[in-house]
Order: sequence, then structure tokens, then C-alpha cells
Amino acid sequence: MNSSPTRPVVLETIAAVRDALADVPAVALVPTMGALHDGHLALVDRALELASTVIVSIFVNPLQFGAGEDLDKYPRTLEDDLDLLGSRGVQFVFAPAADELYPTQPIQTTVKAGGVATLFEGRSRPGHFDGVLTVVAKLMNIVQPQFVLFGQKDAQQVFLVSRMVDDLNLPVRVEIVETVREDDGLARSSRNRFLDDRERRAAKVLSQALEAAESSADRGIDSVIAAAQSVLMGEPLVTLDYFAVVRPTTFQPVDDDYRGPATVLIAAKVGDTRLIDNGRIRLGG
Ligand code: PAJ
Repeated sequence: MNSSPTRPVVLETIAAVRDALADVPAVALVPTMGALHDGHLALVDRALELASTVIVSIFVNPLQFGAGEDLDKYPRTLEDDLDLLGSRGVQFVFAPAADELYPTQPIQTTVKAGGVATLFEGRSRPGHFDGVLTVVAKLMNIVQPQFVLFGQKDAQQVFLVSRMVDDLNLPVRVEIVETVREDDGLARSSRNRFLDDRERRAAKVLSQALEAAESSADRGIDSVIAAAQSVLMGEPLVTLDYFAVVRPTTFQPVDDDYRGPATVLIAAKVGDTRLIDNGRIRLGG
């Protein structure tokens, strides 16, 4: 492994983070679970535009994984992550052990996400978003950044984090970065590495379904659903979990006669790997 001199300083304790950032005027935080790819790096690049000091947290948060989910299998590639972040100019990485963030188990106080957290990703993953919001709130309290960055790839997470920041008056600006994709449209994800060659080829139908939805958006919601469905039906390796069209302001499914901006959500299993994606459309008709 090539350990370049520009590698970020790795902080493993909360005390070390507070110490390192004590006199830093503007900090941007990029929360991640590691196994970094170009999607994460787009957040990092934007963070470096916003603030002179960037800290990336790398923590596979047990609180947001349900029983039987891929917590143990989740890829951990810290050395590679540090090289990538160093090459971008990131100064600090916060990589705590689980008992640094959760010293007394079970945790007694958590952030409870609102009703939207029971839909879509939350339906398949009960408690997931409470776990996400709790760790994000903890990370923000530890780092106290001016900016915190999230990817549009996880649209429901973006909605819920933004609501938490508003609802609890957290003193931070949430910055959203567009989804970074592979050449064939597949959204970058740490889980893509689990796809074999056939599954990888099949996985592109998720973004193709979103494109089909976008091209039919003028003709209204029924056409959007029909267009996406016909793309997905052509790929037997893909099992749809949900497809939904929601209002960006409420994250609730749109009514049949709704016209205006909407977010199209898709989740599907490709082989054993569960992938999500989303796109923005304007419903007309
Ligand atoms: P993780 O899946 O590692 O993602 C970290 C951040 O990178 C998230 O904001 C996610 O939306 C963003 N991201 C992932 N793939 C992306 C892509 N292709 N394009 C743009 N952004 C992308 O999301 C989490 O971790 C966790 O839930 C976390 C917020 C860190 C809390 O534990």
C-alpha cells in the first residue's frame, strides 16, 4: 500500500476531533461508511470548495443496520480510503471504533425520524432512519461543522436529515450533491462490488427505468409507471422492491392528478444485492 505524505490525519476519539478542530473557523463534514468511491469523492470535492478544512467520518454505524442485514459483510477498505482522501486534499478522517460512539449499550437516547421513515427504505428496513439520524446528529455534535454534505443518491436520507436539521434548529448548512454514475448510468454504490458480471450488466435497468420515467413525465403518472415497468420487466435478474413517485416537499406519493416537480424512487434486488436509485422529473399531462 502506497502511504502518501498527503494522507489525512486519522482521529479515532471524540476528544481528538475536538482538539484538532478547536481553532478551525470553517469546517465541512462528510459523513460516510467508507469503501469510498467517486460518489463520496464528489461530496468531498464540494466540501473542499465550501470550507478550508474538511473532515470525513468513516464509520459503519451498527444502529442503522437491522438483524440479518449486511453489517458484517459491509466492505471496509480504510487504507484505500485514506489514499483517496489524501489525493483530494482532505485534512482529517474521523474513524472511531463502535464503542467510542456507543460506549454504553444499548444507547438510551436516539433521534426518532418522523412518519416518512416508515415508507420506502424504512418499510424494508425498520429503524434504519432512526439509526441514521442518531449517528448524523452525534457526528454533527462532535465535529460542529458549518457545512454537512449528503448525496442525492439517498434521496430519503437527504429528506430526513434536512427535516431533522430544520425541526431541531441544528446550526449547520446541509449541502446536497448530485448522484455520481458509472458510464452506463448505474449509480455508484459501495454495494456495486458485490455484483457479478451478469448482475452488473442487469443493474443498469434501474437508471434506465428512471430515464424512461423522465421521458414519459409529460404524459402524467400512469405513463411514468408504465414506462418504468416495461423497462424493468425486460430484466429477469432484477426483482423490484418498490417504485414510487413522491412530492419532493413531503416525500409522500403524488396524487393521480398532481402536476409539478416529483422524485422517482426505485429499489430492487439484483441477485442478492439490494440497490436504490432516484431521479427528478416534472409531472405534466
Ligand atoms: P454511505 O452509504 O457511505 O454514503 C455516504 C454519503 O455518500 C451519503 O450522503 C450518500 O448519499 C453519498 N453517496 C453515496 N453514493 C453516491 C453517489 N453515487 N453519488 C453521490 N453521492 C453518493 O449514507 C451513508 O453512508 C450513511 O447512512 C451515513 C449518512 C454515513 C450515516 O451512517
